Amino acid sequence: MSKQTTTQDLSSWRSGVRRVVPYVPGEQPKEKNIIKLNTNECPYPPAPEVEKLKESMNCDDLRLYPDPEIGDLVQVLADYYHVSPKQVFVGVGSDDVLAMAFMTFFNSGRPILFPDITYSFYDVWADLYGIPYETIPLDGNFKIRTGDYIGKGNGGIILANPNAPTGEFLSLSGVEQIIASNPDSVVIVDEAYIDFGGESALPLLEKYDNLLVVQTFSKSRAMAGMRIGFAIGNEEMIGYLQDVKYSFNSYTLNRPAILLGTAAVKDDAYFKETCARVVKTREWTKKQLTELGFRFPDSRTNFIFAEHPLVPAKKIFDALKRAGIYVRYFNKPRISEHLRITIGTDAQMQTLIDFLRDFLAKETPTE
Ligand SMILES: Cc1ncc(COP(=O)(O)O)c(C=O)c1O
Repeated sequence: MSKQTTTQDLSSWRSGVRRVVPYVPGEQPKEKNIIKLNTNECPYPPAPEVEKLKESMNCDDLRLYPDPEIGDLVQVLADYYHVSPKQVFVGVGSDDVLAMAFMTFFNSGRPILFPDITYSFYDVWADLYGIPYETIPLDGNFKIRTGDYIGKGNGGIILANPNAPTGEFLSLSGVEQIIASNPDSVVIVDEAYIDFGGESALPLLEKYDNLLVVQTFSKSRAMAGMRIGFAIGNEEMIGYLQDVKYSFNSYTLNRPAILLGTAAVKDDAYFKETCARVVKTREWTKKQLTELGFRFPDSRTNFIFAEHPLVPAKKIFDALKRAGIYVRYFNKPRISEHLRITIGTDAQMQTLIDFLRDFLAKETPTE
């Protein structure tokens, strides 16, 4: 996108440009009649109250700046997670929260640590802010080896748990071991997918002062389009995050996001029901994929990271796309034979499985 410099450019204003290799977001196709299983969105709508409030929103209010403290949303999140409002930081999606957390806490000059296969924004933020980093290889089954994060001098640790794109969950005791053995580093646990069956690290906040937990409304709360994420940590940590936010952009969330996000948190029954539906469909999909010969780590998320031993992932990806079924393919070392398949509705997953069954029958004839 931006790296088109020639040597001669270096004598111009271009010599002062910050050049980065940007993160590549998943495709957001314009067509409506596709099956979209490529960016881990929720297949169900946001809570009914969100829809109702949206209808009654007063356009005239948009003249006014939103609440810079995002007070209403911070309060419902604090109540929901049984923490003080001073322990909650809200941003424009968890990407915004994580980017600010990198800027705030990974500032020692020592390398930060994260797995070699994980959310591919981490190395982008590290490069953007000039943070040195070391990637720690997952084991052959895509699991985090906790011992690899112990006794290594570092400037911080970031773990997605469950991890993405693998879907693997590291036990709470594993997470605790890493936090406990790195008391001089901030450990950020990115829990974007925690509501689909993992165990949150939030209770560990009472024991450790070096933990920051980050979550999002984009997956389990069905609000990716609204861009809301949040961090929970101790008051001191959240204070540092607020200072950085107010040094950067004080009005982060817009009025509709604050209003509708607050309504979403209040409808806990709908939230739990939606997560349970996704989990049920995921377990059904696991069985079907296994019958078709796919292998995958045991997902605790709203996606499955699957490979087929006989057919290249790229070939399956292309065939699915031609059929209007979008999944995610990463052409990267160690994972170029996997597809990340978001869990959609039952009907969408049935269509996917039917397509794969026919496709694989042609690609892997028994004779
Ligand atoms: C592990 C992980 N963290 C964070 C995010 C960012 O989510 P958002 O910015 O939509 O809250 C994602 C998005 O896919 C993710 O997979």
